[in-house]
Amino acid sequence: MCGIAGYIGTKSAAPIILDGLSRLEYRGYDSAGIAVFDGEKIHMKKAMGRLRVLDELTRHGADMPGFCGIGHTRWATHGCPSDTNAHPHMNEENTIAVVHNGIIENYARLKKRLEQKGCHFVSETDTEVLAHMLTEYYNGDPVAAIEKVMHRVEGSYALGIMFLDHPHHIYAARKDSPLIVGTNDSGKFIASDVPAILHHTRNVYYMENEEIVCLSNEHIRFFNIDGEAIAKEAVTIDWDIHAAEKGGYEHFMLKEIHEQPKAIRDTIFPRIKKDDIDLSELGLEEAEIRRLKKISIIACGSAFHAGVTGKYVLEGLARIPVEVDLASEYRYRDPIYERDSLVIIVSQSGETADSLAALREAKAHNGKVLSIVNVVGSSIARESDAVFYTWAGPEIAVATTKAYSCQLAAFYMLAMKFAQIRRTVTAERFDALLNALRLLPEQIEGLLSQKEKIQFFANHYLATEHIFFMGRGIDYALSLEGSLKLKEISYIHSEAYAAGELKHGTISLVEDGTLVVAVATQDALYSKTMSNIVEVKTRGAFVMGLTTLRHQDMENCADYVLYVPETENYFMGSLSIIPLQLFAYYVSLGRGLDVDKPRNLAKSVTVE
Ligand code: G6P
Repeated sequence: MCGIAGYIGTKSAAPIILDGLSRLEYRGYDSAGIAVFDGEKIHMKKAMGRLRVLDELTRHGADMPGFCGIGHTRWATHGCPSDTNAHPHMNEENTIAVVHNGIIENYARLKKRLEQKGCHFVSETDTEVLAHMLTEYYNGDPVAAIEKVMHRVEGSYALGIMFLDHPHHIYAARKDSPLIVGTNDSGKFIASDVPAILHHTRNVYYMENEEIVCLSNEHIRFFNIDGEAIAKEAVTIDWDIHAAEKGGYEHFMLKEIHEQPKAIRDTIFPRIKKDDIDLSELGLEEAEIRRLKKISIIACGSAFHAGVTGKYVLEGLARIPVEVDLASEYRYRDPIYERDSLVIIVSQSGETADSLAALREAKAHNGKVLSIVNVVGSSIARESDAVFYTWAGPEIAVATTKAYSCQLAAFYMLAMKFAQIRRTVTAERFDALLNALRLLPEQIEGLLSQKEKIQFFANHYLATEHIFFMGRGIDYALSLEGSLKLKEISYIHSEAYAAGELKHGTISLVEDGTLVVAVATQDALYSKTMSNIVEVKTRGAFVMGLTTLRHQDMENCADYVLYVPETENYFMGSLSIIPLQLFAYYVSLGRGLDVDKPRNLAKSVTVE
């Protein structure tokens, strides 16, 4: 959601910025713009639509000479997607250019005041107030002006700014929206996310909240919100550069689906030591785990769905009551905080605005927060008391696959360890679970090798308008994710239902030929779900069943059956999600859609 790339150095800035923005395309956007300083003037070009429109408009940057510039991909919040609303935004004199990720929450009040003072606004964005405010406070010292603006705005921001009378300088600042600074022999970079600059450098500084930076050819200077100089340490990014490229796959999503065995291995094996699970990295005391009376899992989107599975597994194994909340609901529902409880925030990006706000809400009530996060150094990771990192590597496709799978694995490990400490499983049972956990990556590899079967089936459902997913228990949690995957990238309306709930409403929508995907992998619930399959069949549904080989009798009832291997019932979701991810992928592909960048969606939702 929105991307920032900026460069100052000895090379032409525009091609570097356009390339950087293209590597952030996966985050979701609807327009793009760039401003380049040629030493005399700040030139600006903006275009609605894909980045290639801007690329063509600037002849791949050749029409915008200069060694210093800032660029932006915008995901509309205030004001529709349009050339005018795209960033950068400039003041009336064209002496200050700003790009902004985030939301200025008090912009309406600020705008009114500026308009009363005679400022003329051209866009509908919240960002434009920043350009006018900077002009108002500017007296030749950019840092002082930025500082004053930061003291007056409410909300979140990562900013890239250029001032006409400071050629060869880029200024940047952040609060609650990620921003990094990179450096190499040719120059210096700002970016909202690592992939934008990974091709140029691994040497980066993570900006913290309410920090300002000034980049010039000679130096990088950091300041706090009071304008005092501060020292920061550079860190080395150890991402594999190829991890952020397609590596021969048609789409990032397909690549990431195939990376799941490795991602799960990387997440679980370093934590398995001497036939035991070692989670000492979390710093949770055994006594604390024994005392736990409640766990609250909070997340958005697929991470929430991983949390729904987490509830079944944690309650089942560790016998701790678990509630699962959507972060956007939790933060406003005045939740009850009790002693001896644990809040678990789940987030791939670690930057989701609602999840971050929920975390802060919990911390404000002295809640202990453990986060399950994929991006090292992200805001959620930094603000949590403990972090369980999922080692999925960079995930580029908007529709998450490998990060979700690693979140499931994280919940399995937490549940097993908590169960062991709380003595709610025997040593034998723990060993059996551990063996099953170790086997998951291999079993997923087996499922991936059968992808043609799913493609064949998906190709028959390209024109369908509605699909229902149903299951019970963990199969229901899975259905939620299978349904979301499909609708995210295929734009087919689909709903996931707890199978027993279907007859309380949705069954009235089932008619001749309606596709129902029935997930029935839980032995104890199998016969119950089978009854629900009969119910929808009677109303004319075409049923694709998903079960294990021991339940081949499903073929007597369902129209098409896919099998997944056996594993512990608690871990079934890790296997049954694979065909559902592939199904969504092939339906989207068959419909000719942009699989990796579905319309209106953003990879990381950094605004409320
Ligand atoms: C967006 C993405 C989803 C993701 C959700 C939560 O909606 O499109 O795929 O599940 O955000 O993101 P997070 O980074 O917090 O896991």
